Amino acid sequence: MASSDPTPAADHRPQGDGSAPPARPRVLSGIQPTAGSFHLGNYLGAVRQWVALQDTHDAFYMVVDLHAITVPQDPAELRANTRLAAAQLLAAGLDPERCTLFVQSHVPEHAQLAWVMNCLTGFGEASRMTQFKDKSAKQGADRASVGLFTYPILQVADILLYQAHEVPVGEDQRQHIELTRDLAERFNSRFGRTFTVPRPHILKEVAKIYDLQDPSIKMSKSASTPKGLINLLDEPRTTAKKVKSAVTDTDTVIRYDAEAKPGVSNLLTVYSTLTGASVAELEQKYEGKGYGALKTDLAEVMVDFVTPFRTRTQQYLDDPETLDSLLAKGAEKARSVAAETLASAYDKVGFVPAKH
Ligand code: AMP
Ligand code: TRP
Repeated sequence: MASSDPTPAADHRPQGDGSAPPARPRVLSGIQPTAGSFHLGNYLGAVRQWVALQDTHDAFYMVVDLHAITVPQDPAELRANTRLAAAQLLAAGLDPERCTLFVQSHVPEHAQLAWVMNCLTGFGEASRMTQFKDKSAKQGADRASVGLFTYPILQVADILLYQAHEVPVGEDQRQHIELTRDLAERFNSRFGRTFTVPRPHILKEVAKIYDLQDPSIKMSKSASTPKGLINLLDEPRTTAKKVKSAVTDTDTVIRYDAEAKPGVSNLLTVYSTLTGASVAELEQKYEGKGYGALKTDLAEVMVDFVTPFRTRTQQYLDDPETLDSLLAKGAEKARSVAAETLASAYDKVGFVPAKH
């Protein structure tokens, strides 16, 4: 499946410095440890691509705990959810031998480069970020933190530190990747070529997975009713029930039509992605059959998917020492790349190098 964004990433790093170019293009992405369980939208929209890209790219993936504290977090829960997020990423198929998996706060360069990027971002520019507007509207402007306001700029730093060519995310992150491109270009033109200008890696088919009860809104941890949200760590029975009670329409024909039949189309997308069967094949398979048959089969597909996922996640959680040391190794690898980029950015900005 092709990315929906054909623009090639521009590599603006200095050339000819004697260092071998990376054999593979680089990807970087992150996920917040805020909800406990990942939901089906996270998995299909992002994490599934992360797993696939390990084989073709030099891949860096992280649990973004610095981003998590832009809204209040209980410390014990944050710590537990950070390990839980890492365990779920491994259970989903990330392989520490084939990618670099780490926790954002273990690499101090993220906060350091974010400061530089903060100083390059216009106040109005940051004010236009739609995710901030949505989130701050929900909390009330007075309760929203300055951290929430600068959240996208920390994300910019995350991406630029690794000279990432591509950023695999769901559609809701597109604006943040656009901001990253703008700031990379601004920095490069003001101070000289320093950063790779990345492009989003967004798969059209799964860029937005919809709520099962209200297929006009994206599936999200802040869904209005939990019935529309598939958490991967829920009891498989609960998941089956939610699939079977998904909202469809009064028609009975199983056909992909995102406009006229958003509920059925969403189910077909999920079914197709999890099984590898094309939507056309599924339409044919269910010709003349009712929505009940589709939902019953999809419920089974979902149960077969989440059952081993839950077991594997638990196995990683049962051995926190191994998990922590794996994350420590990831952070070490990440830091070696991030430190080099930060040093170059600091130098370009005009900071006097610290003597060691
Ligand atoms: P978050 O849970 O906000 O940290 O999101 C993690 C990743 O999942 C991001 O790349 C999002 O774009 C992606 N994502 C979240 N919700 C959905 C959804 N409903 N459909 C597709 N991708 C999603
Ligand atoms: N903002 C992203 C989200 O909510 C998470 C994130 C943080 C991220 N840093 C990133 C995604 C860097 C891609 C690249 O999903």
